[in-house]
Amino acid sequence: MTRILVLNGPNLGRLGTRVPDVYGTQTLDDLRTVLADDAPGHDIDLRQTDTEGEMLGWLHDTMDSQTPVVLNAGAWSHYSYALHDAVEMVTTAGVPVIEVHLSNPHARDEFRHTSVLTSVATGVIAGFGFDSYRLAVAQLLR
Ligand code: DQA
Repeated sequence: MTRILVLNGPNLGRLGTRVPDVYGTQTLDDLRTVLADDAPGHDIDLRQTDTEGEMLGWLHDTMDSQTPVVLNAGAWSHYSYALHDAVEMVTTAGVPVIEVHLSNPHARDEFRHTSVLTSVATGVIAGFGFDSYRLAVAQLLR
């Protein structure tokens, strides 16, 4: 059994009703079900927070527990150097962190074109809705 953390940042708790044209109408609970169905026998621990400190704590814990991470940091992706440093710590310790986005940020507002996480993430998957997460989990299970 592999344990994988699927960490979601700000406003992603509102999936289902948040800008449905961009993010669809399914919720994070739906995503939890999809990922669990994809990975029977594995422990897919999906969490969401609107608090940056809580997210930093979760990333610090993954260093200690060596738990691979799928990370959608939402808008923090574009400006949080604290998250950059935390992801750098985790990946430098040999624990993979795959950055994911539901949308393709490069096809949207200019401020979304930069991610301060990409340079320290293990890889990036963006633009495929829930499939961005499913592909990331599949890669971590390979
Ligand atoms: C997002 C893209 C970000 O630009 C945005 O701030 C989000 C969601 C995505 O999954 O497409 O909150 O990370």
